[in-house]
Amino acid sequence: KNIAVLASGRGSNFQGIIDGINCGKINGKLVCLITDKPDAYAITRAKSNNIPVIVIDFSLFKSREDYNRALNKAMLEAKADLFILAGYMRLLDDETAKTFSGKMINIHPALLPSFTGLKAQKQAIEYGVKVAGCTVHFVDEGMDTGPIILQHVVPVFDTDDEEKLSERILKEEHIALPKAVELFCNDKIKIEGRIVRILPE
Ligand code: GRF
Repeated sequence: KNIAVLASGRGSNFQGIIDGINCGKINGKLVCLITDKPDAYAITRAKSNNIPVIVIDFSLFKSREDYNRALNKAMLEAKADLFILAGYMRLLDDETAKTFSGKMINIHPALLPSFTGLKAQKQAIEYGVKVAGCTVHFVDEGMDTGPIILQHVVPVFDTDDEEKLSERILKEEHIALPKAVELFCNDKIKIEGRIVRILPE
């Protein structure tokens, strides 16, 4: 399948997808990286792997609506079968969520439905939960609310701070996201309303 990745920053999850494809686990091809940040490190990763980069610099647009229109157009032009939000730090508009429904997934650093939005790991620490983790889910119109594909759990220790927990969760993100992408590319994922079924091998 043709895959497009949206990322705003470091892009370590994007790297996980690149590696998954290069080692033959993911049966897919990266058609482009789309980013809203011209200085995102993800761009460097794309360039060193010959993946086309589309920069849609949010700060250059007059309004959020103009930006959203440009993003929607770029996504349509990418002609991807799957869009991956890998540390893409903006909320998509309803139109985009609808257009790409069932073919857009996100990685979130918490066990949803707990701790949606920004700084999920900090929210988990402050709440005092004893387990945390990450969630790969389909994107719908809400914020981190779409049907859940996979969740990986990590312990939270008394000695943890936001940084330590984030690091532990990130390691699981790098396993869970490529796994979900592999399943998607092998047509092993079926959405039934809110419920996602993983089909047997
Ligand atoms: C990850 O923790 C992801 O779950 C969150 O933002 C972070 C992005 O990290 N949405 P990276 O850019 O993939 O390294």
